[in-house]
Amino acid sequence: MTRVYLSLGTNLGDRETQLRKAVGLLQESFGLFALSGLWETEPWGRVRQPPFLNLALGLEVSGSIEAFFSHIQAIEQRLGKRRDGFWAARNIDIDLLFWGHEHYRSPHLLVPHPYWHQRAFVLKPLLEIAPLLNPGGKNLPFWLRRCEAEDPSVAARRVGQLEGISLPPPTPLSYEELEAQGVILKGIAGVDARQGLAREGRIPWELPEDRSFFREQTRDGILCLGRKTMESLPHAFAPEERELWILSRNASSCDRFPAALVFHHPRELRDVRTPKNIWICGGGEVYAQFLPLCSEIYLTQLAADYNCDQFLDPSWRKLFSEMRCLKRNPHDAVWYYRRLGE
Ligand SMILES: NC(=O)c1ccc[n+]([C@@H]2O[C@H](COP(=O)([O-])OP(=O)(O)OC[C@H]3O[C@@H](n4cnc5c(N)ncnc54)[C@H](OP(=O)(O)O)[C@@H]3O)[C@@H](O)[C@H]2O)c1
Repeated sequence: MTRVYLSLGTNLGDRETQLRKAVGLLQESFGLFALSGLWETEPWGRVRQPPFLNLALGLEVSGSIEAFFSHIQAIEQRLGKRRDGFWAARNIDIDLLFWGHEHYRSPHLLVPHPYWHQRAFVLKPLLEIAPLLNPGGKNLPFWLRRCEAEDPSVAARRVGQLEGISLPPPTPLSYEELEAQGVILKGIAGVDARQGLAREGRIPWELPEDRSFFREQTRDGILCLGRKTMESLPHAFAPEERELWILSRNASSCDRFPAALVFHHPRELRDVRTPKNIWICGGGEVYAQFLPLCSEIYLTQLAADYNCDQFLDPSWRKLFSEMRCLKRNPHDAVWYYRRLGE
């Protein structure tokens, strides 16, 4: 299966109905896994026309890129695609943006789409559904900033959601698929004598050795944390040379760490391609979902009980074997766990 991203646009007739028909026809033949909101944009280029309505979507596709391209062209024809020239108004336009991470060129097809990074109406909906894509080795916020700086007049504003389309529930992520993708998750956590993680929304201990172990270990990597952990970080915290990814269903950006990438669902990790380690840094909700997907875990075990009110979900333990104690400090010890069978 290939993960494919498309951009759809229309500026003639009943725009929402056109888009709904196009999405419905795509969904009849391919696995629709993501659908952005509707974005309205003034037409691109030097023309006077009605505004466009755009969206982005993600499909799982089997078969060849050429067969898929013929299929989307057939859908455009079926919807009566009319276009009188490159800059003309159009009742439906379906652009193939990305075909997995592949590059493809034939006399009539160029993928990634040659203009994907120049259009806010492509980037904004795409960022909603695939925030962890990093085409050309840069993330989508980078391309969006560049696009807006080059042409600030190209504004796209979100105007709602396409009604009448339902998506199947996402299949859970597995360790095996991340491994096949080359994505490496590693867990890092600290617990007290009763496996406590936090008290009243904060880590109730302050251990300089543990902090420097964390910094050293995660150097050059990506820190992945839940929105509540991000909000609980001390003011002195700085990501330094590490990237920051924040998981949140609601937030679209992070005021405190403007360079942080906000993603919305674990399934979005399916778009990731990076040689860097992705460090799962908590808190409780994030550990419960992601530690079972890690290849190794570093656990600082404190000797004392800190009266925590939040505890580490133990379900990851059955997947790991305790390998060795990496270091012993006066108040804690750091344990290294490796996934069974690795
Ligand atoms: N001892 C340690 O090593 C350690 C390490 C890190 C943190 N902590 C502590 O842990 C506490 C925070 O843990 P927590 O469990 O309350 O919160 P958390 O895991 O940090 O963040 C939870 C938030 O993450 C987002 N989220 C979680 N699962 C998601 C999903 N499947 N899809 C989309 N978004 C999802 C949601 O954000 P939205 O609500 O925005 O949608 C949710 O409210 C803090 O007290 C922190 O100090 C301890």
